[in-house]
Amino acid sequence: MKIGIIGAGAVGEIVAYNACMRGLATDIIINDIIKEKAESQAIDLNDARAFYPRDVKIRSGEYEDMGDRDLIVVCMGKISEKDRLDELKGNKEAVEEFTRKIVDAGFDGFFVVVTNPVDIITYEVYKVSGFAPNKVIGSGTALDSARLQVVIADTLNISPKSVNATVLGEHGESQFVPWSQVKIDSMNLVEYEKSHPEKFENFDKDEVEDRTRRRGWDIFKGKGSTQYGIGNTVNNIIAAIKNDERIILKASALLDGEYGLDDLYISTPIMIGKNGIEEKFELDLTDDEIERLKKTASVIKEYIAKLDLD
Ligand code: 2OP
Repeated sequence: MKIGIIGAGAVGEIVAYNACMRGLATDIIINDIIKEKAESQAIDLNDARAFYPRDVKIRSGEYEDMGDRDLIVVCMGKISEKDRLDELKGNKEAVEEFTRKIVDAGFDGFFVVVTNPVDIITYEVYKVSGFAPNKVIGSGTALDSARLQVVIADTLNISPKSVNATVLGEHGESQFVPWSQVKIDSMNLVEYEKSHPEKFENFDKDEVEDRTRRRGWDIFKGKGSTQYGIGNTVNNIIAAIKNDERIILKASALLDGEYGLDDLYISTPIMIGKNGIEEKFELDLTDDEIERLKKTASVIKEYIAKLDLD
């Protein structure tokens, strides 16, 4: 797959490296507003070329070079501490500019958006590109859901692979956990608790939810960026498209009536295959969870309005 990466920072480099290590990329162009940074990343990624499972061409390039890409990952921008919504001001103009230039260059592939606030920026890319919504995907709460799997797994002393858990809504402070949907393998959490009461003595749902939400900031505090979770999350999306996996992930998609919501990007389970978003799923939530979903959706809507698109 020919991949373009907009943003050669901590996220861009790990997205590129992970795509090389997983044999998903045949050709990568990496871009950054700091040209030397993109150039250095390309040289460094090339240094490992002999070790990748498949050969990959890697170079730095401009938006105008992205026309022939199959997929572009948007991960530019600086993280602002505490609330991803604060990043909108700094990112929205640049996103509009490069989206136009990339589309003008003839790009007709998939956009996978990571730049924060991701749900709002994904909507912006969708609108500015004029692409069909199945071709524009936001990483959304795929990362938070993976984090939740790990937090629950650590608390219950079980593999994260045996935890089926979802974070819904904004990839941000208003996200929430629909506990009615959490399963340990095929057992719902209530059943599992009945058979393992000792494991739940210190299991506080609010605290688990809070630790999951805070995890990005806990990482940011010490290293100034997050990388490994998002690098793998994005490459799961890339692999699903490349291999037509039809895997169900939680990620940001344009809703069109699901949960009574429309015209916004927000995370819900979606199936990803060769056409990008193949299907969206509406979970059977409790009334309280629906309320929380509406609340997080209203935050996204409020910020979409600030994009000032036609
Ligand atoms: C993350 O959650 C900061 O959005 C970034 O890792």
